[in-house]
Amino acid sequence: MAVIKKVEINLDYLTPNRSFIYPLVSDTGERILDERVLLTSQKIKEIREKYGNIVYYKDSGKNTLIPPFRMKIAYNKSREIMEEVSKTQKFSKASYRETERVIEEILGDLNNSEIEALHLLKDLKSHDEYLYSHSVNVGVLTAVLAKLLGNYSMDEIKFFTIGAFLLDIGEMKIDPQLLNKDGKFNISDMQKMKRHPQLGYEILKNIQGINPIVLQTVLFHHEKYNNRGYYNMPYENLPVPPKVAAICDVYDALTTKRPFRDEISPAKTLKILFNLAGTHFDYRLMHGFINRMGPLLNNTQSFYARNDILELNTEELAMVKDFGIVDSLRPKVLVFCKFERSDNRLSVKFYDRPIEIDLQHDASRSISKFINNSNQINAIRTKLGERNIPLQ
Ligand SMILES: [Fe+2]
Repeated sequence: MAVIKKVEINLDYLTPNRSFIYPLVSDTGERILDERVLLTSQKIKEIREKYGNIVYYKDSGKNTLIPPFRMKIAYNKSREIMEEVSKTQKFSKASYRETERVIEEILGDLNNSEIEALHLLKDLKSHDEYLYSHSVNVGVLTAVLAKLLGNYSMDEIKFFTIGAFLLDIGEMKIDPQLLNKDGKFNISDMQKMKRHPQLGYEILKNIQGINPIVLQTVLFHHEKYNNRGYYNMPYENLPVPPKVAAICDVYDALTTKRPFRDEISPAKTLKILFNLAGTHFDYRLMHGFINRMGPLLNNTQSFYARNDILELNTEELAMVKDFGIVDSLRPKVLVFCKFERSDNRLSVKFYDRPIEIDLQHDASRSISKFINNSNQINAIRTKLGERNIPLQ
């Protein structure tokens, strides 16, 4: 029987022009909004007045894009493959073909249904379980993102996905004691770990008929936009598949609970990822990930709220006044100060009158960073209060 999960929905993160695939209910179970009814600003206001900021939906899991049994099959396949490589140090052609079949079935789900909710495998305890579920999650995220980006054939998407599913296969050639250290690596450990993309490539390269996209994805998945990834490869010249898989790899890692840290919420993770565009990740792909995958991963909600604080490319700070509807990364903002440099000193000049700007219509300004640090946010809010700049 399906497990029904009560999912908290925060109205501060709810944007107009969206609908839920499950009915919204109040804390006491009263039905607030039917499924698939388009939200308007007025409706959100009415819900807030009557029920407060937090409402719920009951997620039966029945509308999830890839059914749980299919995720489980992929999980078991991942386990089989990793155990095989760990024991034999090889990846057989037969295993590769079976992997291909598992991925083809997942992609069949993607083709047959509207993409509206994505459930990843979570809440795992041991390192091994994490590795298998991470492999499935990165594969699924990559498949959905590649599909939503819209530029790729189903065949290409299949190879993107296989590459993402096999991303860390090279870790099976690394000392298990090192793998089980759970992230607390010294420099020598890091050097050994950094070999895993190359080791993965070595394992796969001799499989007859393997598609180059799979090999590229595995080999380059730790390269960075600033060319300072594991192998310092020139990012600009790299193919797209490893760049897509790299975003999905970090998203799943951060949103999963590990023995040594708690999971980070989807909303906060999306902000962290956005802030890494331009250093770790390609801005255009990150933009696609946030705009297209964000609502799927965050229960239809936006990943930021009104009054969140942003840094703009113009070295100005701004506060979100309203959501970007066409492009979530172009909200309406109130710009209130600018950083100024003179003689190597950085100072902050607050505007006498903050400027209201709709980023949708201002091509010269864009968000460069979401301020995530709560100490910084509090300090900025205090300054705003001192200057009587309204927070609402
Ligand atoms: Fe990796």
